[in-house]
Formats: sequence, structure tokens, C-alpha cells
Amino acid sequence: MARIFFALRPAAPAREALGRLATEVAAETGARRVPEAGLHLTLVFLGECDRMRVEEAARAASRVCVPSFEVALDRLGAFAKAGVAWAGCARPPRALQDLQSALASRLADAGFALEDRPYSPHLTLARHMRGKLAPRAIDPVTWQAGSFALLRSGGGAGRYETVAEWPLGER
Ligand code: 2AM
Repeated sequence: MARIFFALRPAAPAREALGRLATEVAAETGARRVPEAGLHLTLVFLGECDRMRVEEAARAASRVCVPSFEVALDRLGAFAKAGVAWAGCARPPRALQDLQSALASRLADAGFALEDRPYSPHLTLARHMRGKLAPRAIDPVTWQAGSFALLRSGGGAGRYETVAEWPLGER
């Protein structure tokens, strides 16, 4: 079994900027920062799946056809109960919502039971917060999302392996 989810991974310069932000936020809130290589913006979380279901999820994802778009993370916030500090978008781009809903709908067609709470795009910077984080605007961290990936948890806390990756753009 593998714990899997679909996500966008920031391009290198954005990942480095978010890594610096993760260090700052962790210091501010007494939290544990996410390692730079593990930073991602989840699209759909599937949880524990056996190998056949992982392959079905990958097949469903390969049918998603959505243009590439720019992500701009311009806010810091927190899920206080979960102890999670994140970077997010004041106004998530339409294209991100379109990608998320296209993927969710392909997965639902393939028989995956998805969480029915509304999608709340965020990139977790730090976990296990002890102090409060003041939600605020930040200088936007941007990248061109040219692909999305199926990731699996593994290799220790905050480490993920890529199962498969698909380009965004006209196909
Ligand atoms: P989080 O960063 O807010 O914890 C891998 O766990 C990724 O899937 C994380 O980005 C996590 O979000 C996200 N995720 C979404 N729903 C989840 C759930 N029910 N359990 C664990 N992780 C979930």
C-alpha cells in the first residue's frame, strides 16, 4: 500500500524562496519546517492505495487536459487546529481550480471516493506550530505550473517520491 496524492511542485527558484519562508515561519511559530524538496501544493489527496489503484489513478490523471498557468502565492496563513502554517493565494487562479476539478472529476469517474469539503489550495511550510502565526500578505512567490505529479509518501517525514508526472498545456 502507498499513501498517494496529486500535487504541483514549485519550480526551483520558487522552491528556494518558499524554503526561506518555511525557515522564517518555523522560527516564528516554533514549528517544524517542511524540507525544501518536500514543498508541494496538493490538488487531490487519495490516501492509502494498493498498486492497482495507484495505476488506475495514474490512468485517470493522464486524461486531464488543462493549460499551463502561473501560480502566485501571496499570503501566509495557518490551520490553527492542525498546527499547519502555509502559503496560499488571496485569489486562487481560475486555471488552478479548473485543474483541480478536472482531476477530481476524472478520479471520481474511475471510482475514487474523494473528500467532499471545498478545495482550499495551500502549500504547507511548517507543521506542529506551537505559537500563533499572524496571517498576512507577502511578496508573491511565483512559478509557471508546467506539470502536475502523483506523489507518494515515503523516505521519512516530509519526503515524497514521484510516481508519475504529466505536462500541462495544449495536448
Ligand atoms: P496538508 O499539507 O495541509 O497536511 C500529503 O499528506 C499532502 O496531502 C499534504 O499536502 C496534505 O495537506 C494533503 N492532504 C489533504 N487531505 C489530507 C488528509 N485527509 N490526510 C492527510 N493529508 C491530506
